[in-house]
Amino acid sequence: MNKPVYPFREIGIGHYPMGNTPVSPEDSKRLPSLMNLNQTAASSKLVYVHIPFCDSICPFCPYPKAFNEQGARKDYLAALFRELEMYGMTPQIRNCSVEALYIGGGTPSVLDEEEITALFEQLQATLPMHNIEEITFEGNPASFTAAKLKLLQALGVNRISLGVQTFNDELGRRLGLLQTGEDSLRSIQDSREAGIANVSLDLMYNLPGQTMEEWLEDLAKVVELEIGHVTLFPLKIIPGFGLAKRIASGELPACGGLELEQQMYIEACRYLESQGYSVESTYDFVRPGGHHVYSRKHFDDYLDLLSVGLGAFGDVGGYAYQNVKLLPEYVKKITSGDLPIALGYEVKAEDLPNQFLAMGLRRTAIDRQQFRRKFGVFPEEHFPELFDKFVKEGLVEIREDTIALTRFHGLFWGNNVCKEFCEEQIKMAFPK
Ligand SMILES: C[S@@+](CC[C@H](N)C(=O)[O-])C[C@H]1O[C@@H](n2cnc3c(N)ncnc32)[C@H](O)[C@@H]1O
Ligand code: SF4
Repeated sequence: MNKPVYPFREIGIGHYPMGNTPVSPEDSKRLPSLMNLNQTAASSKLVYVHIPFCDSICPFCPYPKAFNEQGARKDYLAALFRELEMYGMTPQIRNCSVEALYIGGGTPSVLDEEEITALFEQLQATLPMHNIEEITFEGNPASFTAAKLKLLQALGVNRISLGVQTFNDELGRRLGLLQTGEDSLRSIQDSREAGIANVSLDLMYNLPGQTMEEWLEDLAKVVELEIGHVTLFPLKIIPGFGLAKRIASGELPACGGLELEQQMYIEACRYLESQGYSVESTYDFVRPGGHHVYSRKHFDDYLDLLSVGLGAFGDVGGYAYQNVKLLPEYVKKITSGDLPIALGYEVKAEDLPNQFLAMGLRRTAIDRQQFRRKFGVFPEEHFPELFDKFVKEGLVEIREDTIALTRFHGLFWGNNVCKEFCEEQIKMAFPK
């Protein structure tokens, strides 16, 4: 293994810039003008809807989520529907065209059929969805049923994202997963039988005690099942979380070190490529038919992203934001007639070169000439010190037309490379 360039691997950059400054009570009242919601020009949008509920809280997961209870779901959906209405009434959203919608979580598949129907009715009533190309619905194999999948297909869903994590039941038990490998196989089959052919899977690797052989078995299942899109997450052990405690107490075996994690990543890239997949991002692998319109338009075209729901990140009309993360506060804000935004940031022209590189390099390469057409200089002239370091460390390769993460050293550290373009943003969000 090459010498580690960074002490640990970062989680991928999902948004740049991001809302990073607490919204003051005065700004809270003028959010519609900060977001240019009165602007009437037609625009294209992506929409993200967060459903935070999970049937069990996985002891490793850092995402905004809440325990699934019918009462909490009812209050949440009422608030979410009101949030959609608030946006839907504005000229900017009324005049936009939603190109792709992602309903994520948490675990949207915990909604019952009545709730799913009501959610789609509300989306149709509040957002211009007539030109929509893709609707993804995310969930867990333990809560997707054949009936829900049929309903989703009838409502226009054409892509399912399944949190499989592993097909191996012993590893699943160590992770405290609800679903078994059998459940995952059944959900994939049910999706296809319902007429939703585009199925994407999340897998995690470097799990407690996982061997390379077990990892390759999970990948072989993906290939055997002809899955179009797979996202591979290295398990991040978060101090203080249940899984970290169980490993520390010796109840569970430890995860491998960075060296095993790197071998697992490289083997995955090699194996999936040999089976007709291409490396689409530092995390994502696709084969023909497994395209993901939403992530292409988000990472390559930086389309405005209207995000609603608990803790959701969005970027509308030149304003990047994050919604509040606590359920009671979310419901309270909306009940009192405010948009539930906790953090915000007005995007500036000087952020755009950083955005181009932070988001673009996650997709493994950027167009060097396009950067120059947009910003007047080449990326390595704009960020000379960073690119000197990246080249010296063998992380990127600068060619005439592109700058690409190297194989496999740059790909492995790709999220850290992207994060270097976000340092100013992070300093603002976390001043200490
Ligand atoms: C926001 S979750 C939603 C998926 C869905 N709720 C499920 O798990 O069935 C997206 C993905 O993040 C990954 N993930 C969650 N916690 C993680 C951790 N600690 N380290 C690495 N990946 C993680 C999992 O693969 C998960 O499917
Ligand atoms: S991994 Fe998925 S199911 Fe588990 S707690 Fe996180 S969001 Fe919920």
